[in-house]
Order: sequence, then structure tokens, then C-alpha cells
Amino acid sequence: MSDRVPAAVAILSSIVIVGYACATAPTTTTPSPTTQPVAAQQTPGGPPGGPRVPLTDSARRVRDSLNAARRDSASAMILRSIAGRENQPAESVFKNIKILKGIPAGRVPAIMNMGFGRSLGVTCGFCHVPGKWDLDDKEEKNTARLMWAMVQTINRDYMAKVPNDRGAPPVVNCFTCHRGMAHPIGPDGPPPGPRPAGAPPPSSGE
Ligand code: HEC
Ligand code: HEC
Repeated sequence: MSDRVPAAVAILSSIVIVGYACATAPTTTTPSPTTQPVAAQQTPGGPPGGPRVPLTDSARRVRDSLNAARRDSASAMILRSIAGRENQPAESVFKNIKILKGIPAGRVPAIMNMGFGRSLGVTCGFCHVPGKWDLDDKEEKNTARLMWAMVQTINRDYMAKVPNDRGAPPVVNCFTCHRGMAHPIGPDGPPPGPRPAGAPPPSSGE
């Protein structure tokens, strides 16, 4: 196993970098660090639309650190752009706020970075065309709004009634289910069923 790790890491790195350049176009010409034909390679996470193979732990660590660096720089940029207005409600600082109303604007970048991005193991580009943050042109962004409403309902109507001795009710959040994956997997792997053509590979997050 351990001798396969460097190859997995190299393949993953090239996929992450190529994936950044063409976030949605399935890549068939990923530069190959090996002499294997591209089509024969089983990349970690599987080819777009292909078999749903979970990432290895080491491959996920590499992907996560690259994604985290990109998220950190984007969220720092947003924070700089709202300097002096951090304590105003999000909806008065940003243009298209539906679920985060009343939350201080200065907390939005961290919610995006850690609450959403890290929990799903994705970059900002999973839900946004980077730079066009207010647009609702990616269905993942609207799905995230549904998920947010679901989490509020679970916490308010159910978790609040769970007996506990911690002094505060237990809560669920995005990480509770996603655990660093865009597509949560169960004990027998990903849920069955085909994904739409061009859909990102499960658990690759890009
Ligand atoms: C899982 C999906 C998801 C990810 C990942 C994500 N966002 Fe968001 N983002 C949203 C949603 C949903 C909203 C709308 C919130 C609302 O309706 O209140 C939003 C809103 C925003 C806004 C407010 C735009 C406006 O003017 O209305 C900014 C800025 C933003 N995101 C930046 C980022 C940055 C930077 C990252 C990466 C660090 C990121 N987002 C990652 C889902 C996501
Ligand atoms: C109760 C478990 C659970 C919680 C909590 C949860 N999710 Fe999900 N989420 C899922 C499942 C299951 C799917 C469907 C996965 C699939 O398509 O394979 C999903 C799908 C998604 C998708 C769509 C992925 C895609 O490729 O279309 C987004 C975006 C998402 N969740 C964001 C969030 C965010 C943001 C939160 C926190 C506000 C959250 N989820 C909380 C279980 C959950």
C-alpha cells in the first residue's frame, strides 16, 4: 500500500491542478506521470461520471491541503473587501443573502471556508463561479441553501429535544454527514445510482 502512495499523490496533484483550469469539463488528457494509457488509469475518486471509488486517506489529505489553501486566500480576499463593515448584517453588505440574514458580514467568509468548503472537501468553485459570488448560477449553491434549512430544522425540531447533560443541546452541521466529502458515503460505499453526465466524481469534490 505505502509504495502506491507517491503515485497516487502525483496523479491526484495533476488532477487537482488540471481540474482547477477546467472545473466542469471532464478531462481526458490529464498529464500522466506514468507510462500507462490515460484511459487505463484508475484515478483516486474515479473519472468524472465513472465508477464511484472513494479516495484513499493519503490522496484525500493532499487534495484537502490544496483546496484549503485556495479557500483561505479567497476568504481572506472577501474579508479585506468588506473591511470596516464586518459587524453589519450580512444582507446589508452582500448582494444576495437569503439564508444568512442577520449574521454579521464578517462571519460569512469563515462560514464559506470552514462551514461549507472544509465540511464538503471542496473549493469555493464547487458552489460559485469564483468572483461572481452573488450569482445563483450553480445548482450546488442552491442545494447548499436547502441543506442549511434542513440543518436548522433538524437542530430546532429534533436535536433540541435530545436529552443530554452538556448544558446545551447537541447539534448537527454540514460535517456531521459530509465528513469532508461532497457526496457522503455509507458503510457499503456511495449510494447506488447513476450520476448525470458530466457530474463531478463522488467524493472528489471538484
Ligand atoms: C457548499 C456551497 C458553497 C461553498 C463551498 C461556498 N459557498 Fe459561498 N455561498 C453559498 C451560498 C448558499 C451562499 C448564499 C448565502 C445566502 O443565501 O444567505 C453563498 C454566498 C457567498 C457570498 C455572498 C455573495 C453575495 O454578494 O451575496 C460570498 C462573498 C461567498 N459566498 C464567498 C465564498 C467563498 C470565498 C467561498 C470559498 C472560501 C465560498 N463562498 C464557498 C454556498 C457556498
Ligand atoms: C443529514 C445529512 C446531511 C447534512 C447534515 C448535510 N448534508 Fe449535504 N448532502 C447529504 C446527502 C446524502 C447528499 C447527496 C449526496 C449525493 O448526491 O451523493 C448531500 C448533497 C449535498 C450537496 C450537493 C452535492 C452535489 O454534487 O450536487 C451540497 C452542495 C450539500 N449537500 C451541501 C451541504 C451543506 C452546505 C450542509 C450544511 C449546511 C449540508 N450539506 C448538510 C447529506 C447531508
